[in-house]
Amino acid sequence: MVKKISFRRVVTPDNKCFDIPTDVKLVFPKESLPPDLIRCLVYIPWERDYLHFSPKRFRRFFEFVLPYLKTRTTDVHTAVCLSYWSNYTKKLEKERGVKMNKKIVAFGLILHDSGWSVLNKKEIADSLTVKGLKIEGEAFGPKRKHADEGVKIARKILNEYKFKPALTKEEKEVICKAVFWHDKTEKARGKKLLIEIKAVVDLDHLWSFTKLNFWQDTVRKNVSPQDYLKNLEHDLDSYFISEIGKELAYTLLKERKKEVGALLNLK
Ligand SMILES: [Fe+2]
Ligand SMILES: [Fe+2]
Repeated sequence: MVKKISFRRVVTPDNKCFDIPTDVKLVFPKESLPPDLIRCLVYIPWERDYLHFSPKRFRRFFEFVLPYLKTRTTDVHTAVCLSYWSNYTKKLEKERGVKMNKKIVAFGLILHDSGWSVLNKKEIADSLTVKGLKIEGEAFGPKRKHADEGVKIARKILNEYKFKPALTKEEKEVICKAVFWHDKTEKARGKKLLIEIKAVVDLDHLWSFTKLNFWQDTVRKNVSPQDYLKNLEHDLDSYFISEIGKELAYTLLKERKKEVGALLNLK
């Protein structure tokens, strides 16, 4: 049976209308900022159930890092990406014929966006000025800064958290490198980086193709769902490092196509 998708209309503080699936919750921050900035800062509220998206063995660490993941829907984003960790890493090991240190992929993923916590509202809004996936224009500065700041925060957290068993110095370095590289796909692809670092890049990027972020992005980036679908499809191949990453993103994209089709049929 085909599940019916229902939509609700969202009117933004700067008076723009968007139709989004009824099960995608969006909240506009209550702050005295220009209306278009408030639209860019729209977020999906955190709920404790999202903790269960994380494999059980990483939940305690995820909770420890959560206070650093409160901006830009980073908390929900990280939880959703963690839900792909098991499937993705298993398939990647098979694709490459290697054994990976999978736990450091999870720790890197949990920490990768902690840097957003020290950026201001304007920098966060600027990071969302792109209509597709390629980082350009005003988005470039804040994107680079969140990775640089993220490395500092990751280093601090990795040194204060009591891992059982303890992580080695080398493992901590790989995690920090993953934070640094996670948004530099083009360069990371051509570089001799550990597979664990490349895995963090791909897992992070799956988020753009998920239901929650696709519809949230149409609002914060002020782009129609039809155009956003086209932009994602256009940028997809260059946004992932592994074939498995691309494959999973195409599967998610097909689901988004169905939703956009359902919306257009209603109009
Ligand atoms: Fe990021
Ligand atoms: Fe991210």
